[in-house]
Amino acid sequence: MTGTTPPGATSEQAASRWVRDMFGRVAGRYDLLNHLLSFNLDKRWRSRAVDRVAPILTRPGARALDLCCGTGDVLLALEARRRAPVFGSDFCHPMLVEASHKIARRGLSSPLFESDALALPLADASMDLVTAAFGFRNLANYEKGLEELLRVLKPGGVAAILEFSRPTNRIFGAFYGFFSTRVLPWVGGMVSGSRDAYTYLPESIQKFPGAEELASSMRTAGFSRVEFDRMTGGAVALHLGWK
Ligand SMILES: C[S@@+](CC[C@H](N)C(=O)[O-])C[C@H]1O[C@@H](n2cnc3c(N)ncnc32)[C@H](O)[C@@H]1O
Repeated sequence: MTGTTPPGATSEQAASRWVRDMFGRVAGRYDLLNHLLSFNLDKRWRSRAVDRVAPILTRPGARALDLCCGTGDVLLALEARRRAPVFGSDFCHPMLVEASHKIARRGLSSPLFESDALALPLADASMDLVTAAFGFRNLANYEKGLEELLRVLKPGGVAAILEFSRPTNRIFGAFYGFFSTRVLPWVGGMVSGSRDAYTYLPESIQKFPGAEELASSMRTAGFSRVEFDRMTGGAVALHLGWK
């Protein structure tokens, strides 16, 4: 495992910059495209992940962070369960602006902060739960990302990584491959005006480790217990790691 490698990026810094700029360009259309290109399945993926981690929010004084929060859907779903602020962080300012509008529309005041997931401005052992939905794959260094997750989690804390993965069925895999490499860049490019963002999406998914490999990297990084659930025929996986 290394990290994401967008076109033309020859260093971790360049990869990070490319990813941040790209999300900045699509922020205004991000939610619409998510729902459109996933046939609304993205809502179900996030809600299943939130269902799975919700019990952690009932721990007394539980503190939770939604990492790579983007426009804030997981953050808001976590808050609905907890009825107390959940932190959200992202390194892309326009995505945080979208999140802040959504939070304000619901009359909430969730604390958001702009930060790279590889260097969080948080104390060691300060969080009971850290979620990362469709963000982890974009990190420039996955090992560093896992290290940082472990650092900020309290002992007994849980990291929940919801990410695209590999379909397990060959026929579904072939359809998914066609859709993601042919249809998705075309529709995504047209609606967002940024074709490179939606060409990067399937490429980054193909390069991202499969579910078993990610679980094994989480164990190697130091998570004491790791579990994963596949969703939608393996197209998405939720990994949980306990510190
Ligand atoms: C595909 S979006 C997912 C947003 C949201 N979690 C969701 O479920 O829709 C990925 C997000 O991760 C953020 N991101 C990627 N790399 C990051 C990093 N190194 N540090 C912080 N945020 C990062 C991007 O800015 C973007 O908002």
